[in-house]
Amino acid sequence: MSETPLLDDPRPAAQRARAPRAFVKSFGCQMNVYDSQRMADLAAVEGYGEAATAEDADLIVLNTCHIRERASEKIYSELGKLRELKDKRGKVGRRTTIVVAGCVAQAEGAEILRRQPAVDIVVGPQSYHRLPQLLRAAEARSGVVDTDFPAEDKFAHLPPSAPAAVARRGVAAFVTVQEGCDKFCSFCVVPYTRGAEASRPVESIVAEIGRLTKAGVREVVLIGQNVNAYHGLDAAEERVGLAALIARAAAVPGVRRVRYATSHPNDMTDDLIAAHASVEALAPYLHLPVQSGSDRILLSMNRRHLASDYLAIVDRVRQARPDIALSSDFIVGYPGESDADFAATLALVRAVGFASSYAFKFSARPGTPAAEMAGQVDDTVKAERLAELQALLEHQKQTFNRACVGRRLEVLFEKPGRHDGQAIGRSPYQQAVFAEAPLSLTGAVAQVEIVDVRPNSLHGRVVSPASQEQDLISRAG
Ligand code: SAH
Ligand code: SF4
Ligand code: F3S
Repeated sequence: MSETPLLDDPRPAAQRARAPRAFVKSFGCQMNVYDSQRMADLAAVEGYGEAATAEDADLIVLNTCHIRERASEKIYSELGKLRELKDKRGKVGRRTTIVVAGCVAQAEGAEILRRQPAVDIVVGPQSYHRLPQLLRAAEARSGVVDTDFPAEDKFAHLPPSAPAAVARRGVAAFVTVQEGCDKFCSFCVVPYTRGAEASRPVESIVAEIGRLTKAGVREVVLIGQNVNAYHGLDAAEERVGLAALIARAAAVPGVRRVRYATSHPNDMTDDLIAAHASVEALAPYLHLPVQSGSDRILLSMNRRHLASDYLAIVDRVRQARPDIALSSDFIVGYPGESDADFAATLALVRAVGFASSYAFKFSARPGTPAAEMAGQVDDTVKAERLAELQALLEHQKQTFNRACVGRRLEVLFEKPGRHDGQAIGRSPYQQAVFAEAPLSLTGAVAQVEIVDVRPNSLHGRVVSPASQEQDLISRAG
């Protein structure tokens, strides 16, 4: 990630004018990872190289997450450390600009400046394309805040990522295709921090994927808070859904694999399910959060489906693609959750059999309906339920992984492994797979026979040479 633009500068160190550097730190979800990369792109256009650490940076951006209390409180302790850093650099005549971006910025706005005056700029997830103007404004006055939901299309105002930056970020890339959420689950801050649901036009997404593959990307992950609610305009100004977008993405030269996340059960349309059977490049993996297995709790959460609806969707997806790996998100200790409700969640997990999942303790978020509900659950009960659920999910994950031993999986190799001669990649089921393989396999798909399971990865043996396609499409950078 670090860039050393001055490495070839022949002048003695003392005479070199140091180019400014930016450090962007991402918290939270994949959407934030994407936004962080785009903010680094914006900073690059403004003349900032990439700094490897905050200590080395003149511009520091914290791209924050507000989803649970712990996530947003973490930002203030980070900011405390950055303030000391800023003071230290200030004493030797170095200016440091601190930006708080992302969902905490959107939710708390100017309050962040009151709690931490060392912050120069607060910018929300829908207005960060204005970062260049905000940086200039912050030179003239301290404490600039922009948490608008502007009418202009943010994506049209973002500079394309430089091919060298894309190559550094790896062979799998996120592409935001849909943003925001209109679902208003009663526990969730996202509709407030990200705003209303909006989809990018198809051609703008396809053009971005084309630039990414030219720079070496082989796997694209189409992302959105509710990605399967995607309804963007195509070239004929017709609205199309996620299934059509997946087909377009899969057809871009150089794309070997397509994924999408995160989906809501109510938007699992027939054509999207059918795409799992018909689009070869679409990975057999579906992250479909259910949150709870209890109908009473699902109703109170405003999820607008029953546990049986979820199970029916899982059945249909498995009919389309029998080997599909499923994953989900769960919340334990939601207000009013009884032992019986929690038992219903465990029963749903047993009925489905997940390949991997995330479980969280309910966190009461200010401004959301669930934060005010009666029947808040004791933290010790939440902790017990979390441990029990996580143990079951971990058991299912290990069962899924062990069932892969002896199978041949297509692995997209991503980078060197921890030991010499090893490379690491991802299976179609999103598992990390390491194998003895030459580095030249990076960016290529190879058949790998799985020989062993480790707690967080699979060990395999390359059985077929990789496709040569990677040599045909030049890697930029
Ligand atoms: N759009 C996605 C998820 C967004 S947030 C969806 O519809 O599922 C990611 C996950 O965080 C959620 O699936 C949920 O499990 C968890 N989460 C959201 N708000 C939470 C809260 N207040 N407390 C605990 N977990 C929460
Ligand atoms: Fe949050 Fe629900 Fe929207 Fe997901 S669907 S982002 S959980 S409000
Ligand atoms: Fe967090 Fe915002 Fe993503 S709250 S999970 S960074 S949409």
